[in-house]
Amino acid sequence: MNIVLLGPPGTGKGTIAQFLHREYGFEQLSTGDLLRKEAAAGTPFGKQVEPIMKSGALVSNELVAEIVASNLARLKGKSLVLDGFPRNMEQAELFEKIMRVHQVKIDLALNVDSSRETVVRRLSARRQCPKCNKVYGENIPPRKPGVCDACGVPLFQRADDQPEVIEKRFSIYLESAKPLLAYYQGQGILKNVDGNQSVESVFQQVSAVLGQQKGL
Ligand code: AP5
Ligand code: MG
Repeated sequence: MNIVLLGPPGTGKGTIAQFLHREYGFEQLSTGDLLRKEAAAGTPFGKQVEPIMKSGALVSNELVAEIVASNLARLKGKSLVLDGFPRNMEQAELFEKIMRVHQVKIDLALNVDSSRETVVRRLSARRQCPKCNKVYGENIPPRKPGVCDACGVPLFQRADDQPEVIEKRFSIYLESAKPLLAYYQGQGILKNVDGNQSVESVFQQVSAVLGQQKGL
């Protein structure tokens, strides 16, 4: 079974993907984490995408689709949770072609919606582990401040978690969300989760949706 996570920046897609990994064994395929890894490593590709990400704009659809395709090949046969892709209709169409090649299909599109107010507050407090990508926040603090529980390395704050960049990312999301949601609604696989709620409540909602799915 494969899941696509939809929703604005800061709504909890990464947090939910990590929950799905822990509780159900899904593999997280996060385009944002993969792009940040390239940027941190200073590869030619990373150098190309870093300023785009810092500004809050989207990386080109073709480049992101290529990353997804190569990771689908790497994760062949696993249950996947796609976090951050597709995020517009062009990517959804490219994804259809990639899925045909890799004989993969999406069974569930989980729309995790949150208000602008919620995401601005959460993103200002977010910290992440550079090694395992675990996400921490105001309600999910590490045991030792500023240090990853699992890896023991210092956490970092994302360059795009600055107030004006958050606003830009939110606006870009609003532009592309409607057609994408309609697309998955039309396929009959769209389910909604209220991302404004506590972490416990969101995880419960996600588990309830998964409980309704066949083949899990
Ligand atoms: P990406 O990394 O995908 O960022 P995003 O979509 O903006 O989403 P975020 O990662 O900011 O938020 P999230 O929903 O994962 O929330 P999280 O779980 O961290 O993309 C970054 C950039 O990469 C893009 O701007 C673009 O440049 C590029 N890119 C990536 N994919 C691309 C694509 N497909 N096409 C083109 N470009 C692409 O949670 C947020 C915080 O809230 C955390 O601190 C967490 O602890 C906390 N939290 C989570 N849930 C709750 C809760 N229920 N209650 C309280 N706190 C909570
Ligand atoms: Mg994320």
